[in-house]
Amino acid sequence: MRIDVISVIPGLLDGPFSHSILKRANEKGLFEVVVHDLKKFGLGKNNQIDDYQYGGGAGMVMMIEPIESCINSLRAERAYDEIIYLTPDGVTYNQGIANELSLKQNLILLCGHYKGVDERVREHFITRELSIGDFVLSGGELAAALIVDSIGRLLPGVLGDESSALFDSFQDSMLAPPIYTRPSEYNGWKVPDVLLSGNDKLIDDWRNDQAMKRTEERRPDLLTED
Ligand code: ADE
Repeated sequence: MRIDVISVIPGLLDGPFSHSILKRANEKGLFEVVVHDLKKFGLGKNNQIDDYQYGGGAGMVMMIEPIESCINSLRAERAYDEIIYLTPDGVTYNQGIANELSLKQNLILLCGHYKGVDERVREHFITRELSIGDFVLSGGELAAALIVDSIGRLLPGVLGDESSALFDSFQDSMLAPPIYTRPSEYNGWKVPDVLLSGNDKLIDDWRNDQAMKRTEERRPDLLTED
């Protein structure tokens, strides 16, 4: 899978994509993430990418032309399944959307900045708009990093333990159960006996019960979703 990220501040994304799981996925050829500097497609000698908004008001608006040029340069190389705009007024991102997007071949993520993009970009180029929560970031880059991470770890072969992403919180609309590692007792705090029992059936039942209990206590809304 390949994800192209279009950004005004590409440097913001140097860190998140060059470590740990994503780095290994890239090295194994499973997942390619390429960040593009929108300024390279800017207009005139100053590589202008934004302008004042019609009708007045504070804040600059990202112009259509540089965005279209950047998108077209990518489309000339390959077909894209989706062009996604990251914006606080998009659909709230969740595990279901991560699962869905992880099945695609090529995605473009467009990071908003300043006031955002000219509405016509949204109308004519964007296939989906996503928000990572009800708060406003200074730009879409951190949202893009989060989305890329959550998709990348779902790709076959990316996580060491092939099955582990299946048991994450939210995969069954449930939170994950508590987990423990050695030592089995610390300061008198003991690991639940059942986990040391070696009985897989009992352990599975206990984990399911705990996942349900945790979900009921912390996120009852997940249990009423379709
Ligand atoms: N850009 C600014 N805030 C955002 C948010 N909450 N989600 C996605 N993109 C954003």
